[in-house]
Amino acid sequence: MYKPLEITKDIFYVGVNDRTKQLFENLWPLPYGVSYNSYLISDHKTALIDTVDECYSDLFFQKIAAVLGDKPIDYLIVNHMEPDHSGSIGLLVTRYPDIQIVGNRHTVKMLEGFYGITKHVLKMEDLDTLHLGQNTLQFYLTPMVHWPETMMTYVPEKKTLFSADAFGTFGTLDGGVLDSQLIPARYRSEMIRYYSNIVGKFGSPVQTALKKLSAVPIEAICSTHGPVWTQQENIAEVVGLYDRLSRYEAECGLVIAYGSMYGHTEQLAERIAAEAAENGIRNIVLHNVSKSHASDIIRDVFTYQGLIIGSPTYNNKLFPGVESLLSALQNRLLKNRFFGYFGSFTWADASAKQLAAFVEGSELELVAEPVIMKQAMLDEVEDKARALGRIMACKLLSGAAGSPGKKTD
Ligand code: FEO
Repeated sequence: MYKPLEITKDIFYVGVNDRTKQLFENLWPLPYGVSYNSYLISDHKTALIDTVDECYSDLFFQKIAAVLGDKPIDYLIVNHMEPDHSGSIGLLVTRYPDIQIVGNRHTVKMLEGFYGITKHVLKMEDLDTLHLGQNTLQFYLTPMVHWPETMMTYVPEKKTLFSADAFGTFGTLDGGVLDSQLIPARYRSEMIRYYSNIVGKFGSPVQTALKKLSAVPIEAICSTHGPVWTQQENIAEVVGLYDRLSRYEAECGLVIAYGSMYGHTEQLAERIAAEAAENGIRNIVLHNVSKSHASDIIRDVFTYQGLIIGSPTYNNKLFPGVESLLSALQNRLLKNRFFGYFGSFTWADASAKQLAAFVEGSELELVAEPVIMKQAMLDEVEDKARALGRIMACKLLSGAAGSPGKKTD
């Protein structure tokens, strides 16, 4: 029998860790695993907030039983319908046939679509409340963070926000569940990777949600992934991080992402990076798109304000890994970046033209002429590469566009 894990009076953690799955959404690597968080409020009435991935339902039900014994669950609050959180709803309804399922108009349709559930469903409007006894649930609709039905549930008596995926992160909960039991800094990189890859396209709805919640006093954030944030400095940190990322603000630093078949294009990347370093930039990350996972590149692009992309011409197009990266960045509506590019070719110059088209259709600031190399590096090409690195460094240190950069030495 599990020992009930009470995170604050009446509120219990009943989530699970996944150290098995290789790819989240069958796309994103999970080197440190992931947790699916669910919470149970045991009051005069009982309410479960979200469920867990169906693979972990046995464990999940054991944890619920450790808190409630034979007591029924009165309400399931569905903050988010994505199956990593809704996957156990079908089994839950079988075990607790009288449970009332609480969501909004979008949730109602998805409950029917995914699970054929049409009965015992309560539809809430923005800011509606549900009283459990000593605790009240208030519902904040936060559409498109990052699905249409996403909402957050607030308990004013505990100043606790159940935030769905917002403020969540990859990484399992090893031992502790509260931030005070863990080392929060360990989650920072994975939180940025989570945000930029999963939520990154939806900066504007995230901003809307943050504004909506800005006057709400918060002493605990219970996300569906990662630690429960209870310490004020950590709450300020994760809310601030979401605020900056969703406004596409970034730190002073440079990502150079390139494709290279035989190393010629890579040598251009090296020259540009060396010159940027010589001119004061310390945070420089080179990503070979054929080796780095796209999720790591996207994380770093969301972290740093400078971006330079290089590609050889391949079958009269961009190198495939570069093409895929550009598509991912377009999809995430990337903006507020200093941008440069370089291309190489043997007999037909196509990659630089396509990189030019990419930047023309974007909200990125092109800082210098592109560097284009035919076959191998000539002195004049090397000079242009160094010039690109130097100009990018000056731009980053001046912080003239987007959010101000700071010298990082
Ligand atoms: Fe963790 Fe959007 O699901």
